Amino acid sequence: MTTAESGDQRFDYVHHLQLDTLLSAMRQVTPHPEEHLFVTVHHVLELWFKHVLFDLDRIIALLQADELAQANWLLRRIAEILKLAEAHWTVLETMSAADFAEFRGNLTGASGMQSRQFRQVEVMIGLHQTADDVYRQRTETLWPGLIAEYPVTLRDAFFGVYERAGVSLLDVYRDRWTRNELFQLAENAFEIDRRFQSWRHNHILMVRRQIGIRARGTGGTFFKDYLASTTAYYFFPELFEFRNELTAASGGEVMEKGGD
Ligand code: HEM
Repeated sequence: MTTAESGDQRFDYVHHLQLDTLLSAMRQVTPHPEEHLFVTVHHVLELWFKHVLFDLDRIIALLQADELAQANWLLRRIAEILKLAEAHWTVLETMSAADFAEFRGNLTGASGMQSRQFRQVEVMIGLHQTADDVYRQRTETLWPGLIAEYPVTLRDAFFGVYERAGVSLLDVYRDRWTRNELFQLAENAFEIDRRFQSWRHNHILMVRRQIGIRARGTGGTFFKDYLASTTAYYFFPELFEFRNELTAASGGEVMEKGGD
């Protein structure tokens, strides 16, 4: 991140926000008026990915230092940003499938799956630690060295806090008002997972509407081969799993593992 010089005589709104640079990034590759919205939505989401990466870095350091109040505050912000990111799908759906079909042929070769920042967010949270080998291999092939860039993921920092506190998630949920920061931390991590899932599912619903479920994406994949498989990915499966334990502990019936 570069720091602006506030003493600069030209310092004003345009200068502070580097608007000349930011706004000059709008470049259509077709004359179709709906491509403007398509590019804008991608730009906005990339800006949010950048900010999420920025805050994740702070959160990991805060968790490592057991600064839970501030870490929780920032985690809640990330969940809000993900909620906002999801809201873009309905805006994009105001571009009709017929309009998109008129210019998407010129976009072949370019796909959101090439977003390095999106993959960085996933890896920084720790998806390579919970997803299948296919995910890890694909990430290493497409982005060599990306996984190694994050020796401590949000997952690592998160579980480190509970280890140092010497409590299980089950204990924390039972003692949620006396161990409130630890409880809030688990709820915030759960919320991030849940929001990410929601983003993935709503992206898929939007894709269905814009190109149909049997069409090949501009990145070259078919739905059942790629996007469908990504809905199985969770950052904190433990936080979903232990809810079964809560139910079982209260006398509820829970299937054996693998029965889901
Ligand atoms: C009309 C709009 C869109 C369509 C039809 C669409 C379609 C697709 C398809 C089919 C894929 C699978 C890979 C491929 O073969 O291309 C994909 C992946 C992806 N798209 Fe979109 N997309 C759209 C808009 C967006 C926008 C605005 C973003 C914002 C950044 C985005 C982000 C992504 C990401 C991050 C992936 C990879 C997902 C993953 O690996 O889990 N997409 N998209």
